[in-house]
Amino acid sequence: MKTSNEIRSKYLKFFADRGHAVIPSASLVPENDPTTLFTGSGMQPLLPYLLGQPHPKGKRVVDSQKSFRAADIEEVGDNRHITFFEMLGNWSFGDYFKQEQLPWIFEFLTREVGLDPKRLYVTVFDGAPEIGIPRDEEAIQIWTKLFSDAGIDNKFVVIGSEANGYEVGMQGGRIFSYDAKKNWWSRAGVPAHMPEGEPGGPDSEMFYDFGTEHDPKWGKECHPNCDCGRFMEIANSVFMEYLKKGGNFEKLVQQNVDFGGGLERIVAASNGDPDVFRIDTLNAVIEELEKKSGKSYVENTVPFRVVADHIHGATFMLTDDVLPSNSDRGYFLRRLIRRSVRYADVIGFPAGELSTLARVVAKTHGEHYTELIEHLVATEKAIADEESKFRETLSRGMKEFEKLTKGDTVSGHDAYVLFTTHGFPFELTQELAKERGASVDINAFKKEMDSHRDLSRAGAEQKFKGGLADQSEATVRLHTAHHLLLKALQMVLGESVKQRGSNITGERLRIDFAHPAKMTDDEKKEVERIVNEKIKEHLPMVRSTMPKEEAEKLNAQHEFGAKYPDMVSVYSLGPVGATEDRPMYDQSFSIEFCGGPHVSNTSEIEKSGTFKIQKEEAVAAGIRRIKAVLA
Ligand code: ALA
Repeated sequence: MKTSNEIRSKYLKFFADRGHAVIPSASLVPENDPTTLFTGSGMQPLLPYLLGQPHPKGKRVVDSQKSFRAADIEEVGDNRHITFFEMLGNWSFGDYFKQEQLPWIFEFLTREVGLDPKRLYVTVFDGAPEIGIPRDEEAIQIWTKLFSDAGIDNKFVVIGSEANGYEVGMQGGRIFSYDAKKNWWSRAGVPAHMPEGEPGGPDSEMFYDFGTEHDPKWGKECHPNCDCGRFMEIANSVFMEYLKKGGNFEKLVQQNVDFGGGLERIVAASNGDPDVFRIDTLNAVIEELEKKSGKSYVENTVPFRVVADHIHGATFMLTDDVLPSNSDRGYFLRRLIRRSVRYADVIGFPAGELSTLARVVAKTHGEHYTELIEHLVATEKAIADEESKFRETLSRGMKEFEKLTKGDTVSGHDAYVLFTTHGFPFELTQELAKERGASVDINAFKKEMDSHRDLSRAGAEQKFKGGLADQSEATVRLHTAHHLLLKALQMVLGESVKQRGSNITGERLRIDFAHPAKMTDDEKKEVERIVNEKIKEHLPMVRSTMPKEEAEKLNAQHEFGAKYPDMVSVYSLGPVGATEDRPMYDQSFSIEFCGGPHVSNTSEIEKSGTFKIQKEEAVAAGIRRIKAVLA
């Protein structure tokens, strides 16, 4: 078994031997960057140097950056999602480029880490003609030579674009090209989402093959990026040489390399076990939980994984001077600790001892992150205080719960009061109700929550305050489909679904919305069915202008947090026969505050094809994201 310390040290030394200055990790709390709450990648703290400012340590640096991705909190529980991780980075600020970096990283992964090169698969950028950037032929050539020299078959396969769902199978490939969705990297994602002045570029990702036994789809749709469990992305070399300017892409003043390697995943690959929780650092917490609870990890994987992950995030955040609170960073820290308490209880870990797990984290990581040891006493105290505060809340909440729940249902309002006034988690209300054979009115609870609480943590999303930037035909059709989708989501998941963000390009639409759970396949199918049915009904889209109050009376949908003027534009969809003079709002399928533009009739959407959900995922706490296309 290789340890995280061993691999991190080997990595830093490997690049130090190649002229890189070793720099310490920046804090988890970003400095001079108000756009995000936490440092979530290695490049964030180094942005000025990618843009051309000279780095005090020179043009080559290497580091391991502490990173936290809040959007993944609810995904933790499977064998690979973690919220806190270390990102290994090697950086060229206008110095070396692909020809040096890819051979180095191949050598590091195969020789130093000892990964079998037969188990490595790589991806490159397929090009984006719309922005005039071609397929990365150079990266393909470099990989071809590297695999050939290692005596490994290396057929190149074009996987193509998101529009075909990527599901075309392995085709005997070793090197695969994907569109910008997968193989372009910037802080904002694909080129279309990048703001002015943002750097980005094509990337090349490395995947480790854990074997087809981990792949339920093997032979049909599987490919390195399909996320089925066979392949795990372990590293990404970004060739950051473009800058968005005037809506176009121009070359940056220098060619940079931003390499990011997931330390936990590389260690997992080196141990040949796809469960990242089995690597030394995470497993140390798991062993402690087993020892003190007498329970076994294999029989209780989810709660063990949640505690092991969250206690890492909490320990590192406290060390970087975040304190539990009800807002911003402190809110996430509080959630990590409180969720840990709840799951530790499920495991049967002794109450009041959560803070002892911070010591385990400090022990496994303290050799490199010495600040963990220096801060340990304060960290343990903060966790212990938060645990005891939460337990008080729980016992007060229990009393209230007993008072409020005499009958066999707990009303949505009571669940809401328990949560907001007494800090009693909704899941607990549900569990306790279940134990007593009572039920909780979830929909009423969600409704009440939604009208009171700001869930919006989706960040600096491009908002739809009144108008599409790109007004191409394809985009306008997707825009109207977006209105159909919001209504269909409310029909299937409940009226409490509210839009939190939106973004539309000529290729796809994206909606962020408040909803506490992952959608099931049946829910997704039903949403698709409703949208397609409404498209086929050929509903007219009618625009009206009216005072804001009047639109509110119509219960017109609007995005949470968006500001609207006194007179607003409203779009209502259907019924058949509705016109500007006679909008028949009471029979409309959907009514939204919106600046347009839209198709005049849903029959026009049919020309682009059928509506299809491509992806449904968490984007922040309590916020889901759907990407959908017409194809
Ligand atoms: N900045 C790149 C990433 O986070 C390496 O994937």
